[in-house]
Amino acid sequence: MKFFIDTANLQQIKEANDLGILDGVTTNPSLMAKEGIKGEENILKHYVTICEMVGKNVSAEVISTDFDGMVKEAKKLSALHPAIVVKIPMIKDGVKALKWCSDNNIKTNCTLVFSAGQAILAAKAGANFVSPFIGRVDDSNWDGVQLIEQIVHIYGNYGYKTEVLAASIRNPLHIVRCAEAGADVCTCPLSSIMGLLKHPLTDIGLQQFLEDHKKSQA
Ligand code: E4P
Repeated sequence: MKFFIDTANLQQIKEANDLGILDGVTTNPSLMAKEGIKGEENILKHYVTICEMVGKNVSAEVISTDFDGMVKEAKKLSALHPAIVVKIPMIKDGVKALKWCSDNNIKTNCTLVFSAGQAILAAKAGANFVSPFIGRVDDSNWDGVQLIEQIVHIYGNYGYKTEVLAASIRNPLHIVRCAEAGADVCTCPLSSIMGLLKHPLTDIGLQQFLEDHKKSQA
């Protein structure tokens, strides 16, 4: 399973990248705003900085909601750096824009996906990634991981090439359950990635080994 980090924070991207396990980054307009990045020029510059840090799979989201606007933005974003993946929302014009991008060799990530039906449309339109938001599904009292299982199963039935990118991850267990469900990618906050490291028996065991080693040196 690929690991993406779900942030526009350069410090956090660096920390995850330094671990050596990072395969990409997802951003969205809310994450960009959280970092205080304002104005088109600064936003585009920020995407380039992230691309230069990570080198692959950097999702940058369009703001337009009509076909022409989305295509115009997709052209502009994809020209920034070869690592850019254009994030397009699952709406009617979004499906058309996904297909246009697929026909014109622009990589895409279909975002705001909450059902298997939407995921089928994204795959049919040739999206490279589909992003089911599992945390938000859980928040609305449905099972987000079950949605991942369902999409992975359907894509397997037809050999769709679209990669299932589990998004809106809230905790380390989400990552493990998405891996079990066969997600191709998980995009996670740094805290969830780091949470995978934690086990009290590792800490207790290491402490014991170090104490015993100290005794053998005495
Ligand atoms: C990633 O592509 C999504 O934009 C993100 O995971 C959404 O996460 P949230 O539900 O925590 O905002």
